[in-house]
Amino acid sequence: MLCLGIETSCDETGLALVEDGRLIAQSLSTQEDLHALFGGVVPELASREHLRILPPLYSSLMDKSGKTLADVDVIAVARGPGLLGSLLVGMSFAKGLCLACKAGLVGVNHLNAHLLAPGLDQELEFPALGVLVSGGHTNLYRMVSPVRMELLGKTLDDAAGEAFDKSAKALNFPYPGGRIIDELACGVAPDKSLLPRPYLDNDNLDFSFSGLKTAVLNHIRSNPEIRSESMGIPAIGHMGEHEDKIRLLCSSLNWSIASTLSAKAARAVKSHGPFKSVVVAGGVAANSGVRSEMAAMCEKFGLKLTLPGLNLCTDNGAMIAYAGNLLAGEGYFHGLDLEAVPRGRAVPFDYVRRTRDESR
Ligand code: KG4
Ligand code: ZN
Repeated sequence: MLCLGIETSCDETGLALVEDGRLIAQSLSTQEDLHALFGGVVPELASREHLRILPPLYSSLMDKSGKTLADVDVIAVARGPGLLGSLLVGMSFAKGLCLACKAGLVGVNHLNAHLLAPGLDQELEFPALGVLVSGGHTNLYRMVSPVRMELLGKTLDDAAGEAFDKSAKALNFPYPGGRIIDELACGVAPDKSLLPRPYLDNDNLDFSFSGLKTAVLNHIRSNPEIRSESMGIPAIGHMGEHEDKIRLLCSSLNWSIASTLSAKAARAVKSHGPFKSVVVAGGVAANSGVRSEMAAMCEKFGLKLTLPGLNLCTDNGAMIAYAGNLLAGEGYFHGLDLEAVPRGRAVPFDYVRRTRDESR
């Protein structure tokens, strides 16, 4: 089964072809530079950029794969949660392609696709504890199977990625600043008393990172010299006399977020197990502190840790094509009336069960 995946839920335009669970080609275009100076994604600009880049990206994907639209059996598209205008661009493109060929349409939950992404190059073992950490979400799931995921906990305010990005913005680093903070943190021991580990003093599985963001802002207010005067990507070794202090803050922030995530994940393992593995996914799964804290937690419980490769952490078309391939394989399809789901709304499980031939 050949599945084309389309991802346009935020500021990455991603397309990929997955054949029987194997990635055969992908194309990705990021809008990071476009939004960097605004300190966050500007929705109107994002959707216009998806509209501009999708057709040439699609042509280049087909050219390099040697496939044609007639070869495609399934078209999978991220249907949310995400920026509504951006989602609509990808979904309209997907529906247009479906009309022009015989492929079946599958709307994919972007969050579930993140969690399934590591399955592209390693075996996923179910039931798994899913830790989804991205720019917009911080969720814990019991992953019963590739198509059944039960939400156990979520952030009540900011997501982990948002805490990274807003802290980076306060330091005058360009958006998205999570990766920059992580790079500056590497090789620096954290000061574990500098920042709080937020919202652990309870017995639930939810998160709250807005207080941590405020603690970072207060720290910068009390130490205004650590904020760069002009916005730009800092170069280690050339950051001036306050470099050590800046890197210590970054390392402490990494530790505070990573150890908060692993503490709640450990709680979920105890309360909702047994699990065979722990899957950590989403943009923040690229964070070195998150990867090492989760590794330590899994070792303690004797659980297998499944991490996506760094290129599969942030948004991409391969994870959508892979999830679509799995869903279609189980007979889950959508009609052309498939609706986009904006951020903040739950994505319904509204598939129509069909064989692939019936879905055409
Ligand atoms: O999953 P993703 O690409 O987009 C959403 O669906 O939100 O995640 C983007 C988020 C951003 O907040 C970005 O700063 C963060 O992932 N991120 C990181 C790292 N790499 C990306 N955060 C911390 N450390 C990293 N190495
Ligand atoms: Zn994402």
